[in-house]
Amino acid sequence: MASSRGEFSSRFGFVMAAAGSAVGLGNIWGFPTQAASNGGAAFLLVYLVLAFTLAYPALMAELIIGRHAHANAVNALRMVSSAPISRNIGATVGIIGFIVASLILSFYAIVAGWMIAFCLSSLAQLFGMQDFAQWLVSFGMPRNILFMCAFMVMTVAIISAGVRDGIERWSARLMPLLLVTLVLLVLYVFTLDGAMEGLKVYLLPDFDRALSPKLIIAAMGSAFFSLSLGVGTMLIYGSYISDEENLPVVGGLVTLVDISIAVLAGFLVLPAMYVALHNGVEIYTATGALISEDTLIFTVLPELFKTMGLAGIVVSFTFFFLMAIAALTSSISMLEVPVAYVIEEHGLGRKLAVCTIGAAIAVTSATILLNFETLFGLVIAFTTRYSQPLLGFMFCIYAGWVWHRDKVLQEVRKGSPEVEHSLFWKIWPGYVRFVCPVIILAIFAQSLWG
Ligand code: PFF
Repeated sequence: MASSRGEFSSRFGFVMAAAGSAVGLGNIWGFPTQAASNGGAAFLLVYLVLAFTLAYPALMAELIIGRHAHANAVNALRMVSSAPISRNIGATVGIIGFIVASLILSFYAIVAGWMIAFCLSSLAQLFGMQDFAQWLVSFGMPRNILFMCAFMVMTVAIISAGVRDGIERWSARLMPLLLVTLVLLVLYVFTLDGAMEGLKVYLLPDFDRALSPKLIIAAMGSAFFSLSLGVGTMLIYGSYISDEENLPVVGGLVTLVDISIAVLAGFLVLPAMYVALHNGVEIYTATGALISEDTLIFTVLPELFKTMGLAGIVVSFTFFFLMAIAALTSSISMLEVPVAYVIEEHGLGRKLAVCTIGAAIAVTSATILLNFETLFGLVIAFTTRYSQPLLGFMFCIYAGWVWHRDKVLQEVRKGSPEVEHSLFWKIWPGYVRFVCPVIILAIFAQSLWG
């Protein structure tokens, strides 16, 4: 059954695909600036501890449930429950998960479209097409819609080729490319004046700021977003892993790659900001905080590139290319969630399912673009701040409480017969039962009332 619905061909293929999902705009854009404004190395430490002690166990919950069911999240949560009520709640969680994954993709595609436009703008500049280059960075509606659609077409093209020929093949190509590009950019930025100043801000620990409860909760939220948890992405990728694979090990590898890329991105973004300061670009807001989010990416960094002449054009192209790749390997995992559901539950062919759902998501993205002021922030908050933690909570409840512990052990044992005596099995069941649900509820409470 597993192979007829697609399966990753190797451990490398799976790790690249799952790490590709995890490594996205959240790592390269979100993490470094958050670290810089919140205690530098101390934030990094908190983030590392939380990622391994909480996000990793939640990731394992999704992978184990997915691999056991070899099915989409709706079916998988049904399969691990025995009582009718928990079966129905499980199916509902799965359905909400795929709606949320589709909504995340609808705002992600907009931002990814901007990345592609900025990347092409550098090329246009290189060829002396100044007006076109200017149009590409103009944030006008036709440009926004055009590049959102272009990004969706790429995502659709990869997903319609299936698990091995689409997801695995492209993740295995794009992820090493992403790593090489990132390392080259870091090395180059290190050679520029001002970079060491940024490095200090990133690496000097300020424990007073990093240890505030609010910040710990924020770090937890970003670890969940960063590992793509809660919406069934990791569950569906887990459902394509072979039964011989050692789940705790591959889950650990994915977490490690995700964290390493986030940390590495910090070595690029922070030094780059201080190089910008050195070159006369403003990097602080009126309140004295470091500029972050969209202003950082689409104003501060382009201003920096402008001060660097021809090298700046090449660096700008490389940087936005990196962002576009990171976004693409994440977006394919989001699209696979509703696609797998529609194929398995409603018997649609893959190509038809992918095109129909891809078109529906593009229409949603266009609607967000046309009502940008009201919808953009709202969709991001609804999906990442509220839905992801709550759905993640439900996955932990199913892995920790609803599914029988012996059955969970049976599943994990398939690829690692000795697991019962391992540190993983001593710690994980308690974590997923008690620690993860409590912390996730704390995040949720914080985002509601904090
Ligand atoms: N992990 C991605 C990032 O860090 O940008 C975002 C993401 C991907 C969230 C896939 C949810 C998802 F299902």
